[in-house]
Amino acid sequence: MSNSSSRTLPHTAPPNIIQGGMGIGVSSWRLARRVAQRGEIGVVSGTGIDAVVVRELQEGDPHGRRRVLADYPDTAIADDLIDRFYRPEGRAPGAAYDLLKMHGFEPSPRSQRLLAAATYTEVRLATEGHDGLVGLNLLAKLKRYTLPCIYGALLAGVDIVSIGAGIPMEEARQIPRLAAGAPAELGLDVDTSQAPDTDASFTYSFDPSDVLDDPPTLDRPLFLPIVSSDVLARILNTKLPDDHVDGWVVETPVAGGHNAPPRNKNYAADDTPIYDERDEADLEALRALGKPFYLAGGYGSPCGLRFARSVGAAGIQVGSLFSLTDESGYPEGTTRRLVRRLHRGDISVSTEGRVSSTGFPFKVLTAEDTLADDAVYDERRRVCDLGYLREPYLDAKGRLMGRCPAEPVKTYTSRGGDPAEAEGRACLCNALLANIGHAQRRADGPEPPLFTGGDALEDLPLGSAENPQYDADDVIDYLYGEYRPKTGRAGWTEHPRPRPAD
Ligand SMILES: Cc1cc2nc3c(=O)[nH]c(=O)nc-3n(C[C@H](O)[C@H](O)[C@H](O)COP(=O)(O)O)c2cc1C
Repeated sequence: MSNSSSRTLPHTAPPNIIQGGMGIGVSSWRLARRVAQRGEIGVVSGTGIDAVVVRELQEGDPHGRRRVLADYPDTAIADDLIDRFYRPEGRAPGAAYDLLKMHGFEPSPRSQRLLAAATYTEVRLATEGHDGLVGLNLLAKLKRYTLPCIYGALLAGVDIVSIGAGIPMEEARQIPRLAAGAPAELGLDVDTSQAPDTDASFTYSFDPSDVLDDPPTLDRPLFLPIVSSDVLARILNTKLPDDHVDGWVVETPVAGGHNAPPRNKNYAADDTPIYDERDEADLEALRALGKPFYLAGGYGSPCGLRFARSVGAAGIQVGSLFSLTDESGYPEGTTRRLVRRLHRGDISVSTEGRVSSTGFPFKVLTAEDTLADDAVYDERRRVCDLGYLREPYLDAKGRLMGRCPAEPVKTYTSRGGDPAEAEGRACLCNALLANIGHAQRRADGPEPPLFTGGDALEDLPLGSAENPQYDADDVIDYLYGEYRPKTGRAGWTEHPRPRPAD
């Protein structure tokens, strides 16, 4: 299934730095674009991107999504998206956002087309004005979003797809199919305990011909699975045809976002995962696989980059430092506040075993006024109206449904969920949208945020309490050991490195 042409990572001199994908909307197109302009790899996040786009349209379209939607080949869905959600005057003060219909496990073609169109806008904006490499990041756990997102990204000419939080075996096989314009599907792991007599298997299907009458043959993007160990990389390498994986990102548990569960399954009484030497990847074994690999999780420093190169890695993937740049998806006031508080030591990083409905450990910034604060957590009324993390189950009538342990506990148990599973979960869907300035309004106030970031943020090398600001160029200069602190907004010194023109 591959009459589409493939991209290749320049083996002799692949970029040294991947700016990691950060959902929801943190690794914005602005960040990815700037990083790609600098000759490194910029990655946008596909997670929750449809919600981001419909909220931006309701805010009056500050990033010009409508301009790029005008070029989207599925013109009917582009018009539908704009007609339904665009508010030229922005949202009325205090008004709640209108929501997309939840993307189900057997979604309508319309829902898939909207998701593909939204992803297209993010990738298209990131690729404009340069020839650098732009990637799309997705989470394997969120299976039902993967195929339409990748298809929209392919239509925008994405160079790379990276998938973490799970084992993206099937995804690797489906990417070339999508590039060839062929239907694709992913197996769903459905809890059938309420309908024990069923022996059905379940798949999520997506057909490019639901988007376009005559789907074109598109370039196959590079595929970089994000793995936590050489063991996983070896499994993928053995089971997949050689041309399905182009390299690896190997991530340690000090990285921001979700982390792999500890291999020994050990958790402390407060649910903090306990990692040991079994969670350390064997870099020699990775190198032996013969593909470029990048080290992620605590490598965001000049010495991390030097170390990576010294062990034969192509470079490093960095998220935490980029997450607080001017170009990230956080509103300016948020990055300033977080940078200042981190420098003052008011915020620490903790690894929470229970907070994420995915069941994966999640790094949390212990900032006040967020769900990391017990009082804020306890005060929030549970609502599940976005549903990205819902898991599929078959109800007693044999219907394929979804439930999430962060939804109201009564609802969760009525759907067959174990109440013990619901304990301590936070609604990441609403919180992560709140982080990027798109908090849903409720009768009792806006949804509270919950920030994530890796251990690296506890010793932030950029910005300061007095001048809590830095940008993507600063991060790249810093990683190359060429960063010179600026001297305050008015007197910022020139950058020491020549940079490509905007
Ligand atoms: C705010 C934030 C959100 C993240 N979200 C994702 C995500 O959606 N998908 C993913 O694969 N990795 C995610 N990550 C991990 C980064 O892509 C990257 O691999 C990691 O941050 C690298 O380690 P570092 O945190 O030490 O820089 C996230 C990291 C941060 C800081």
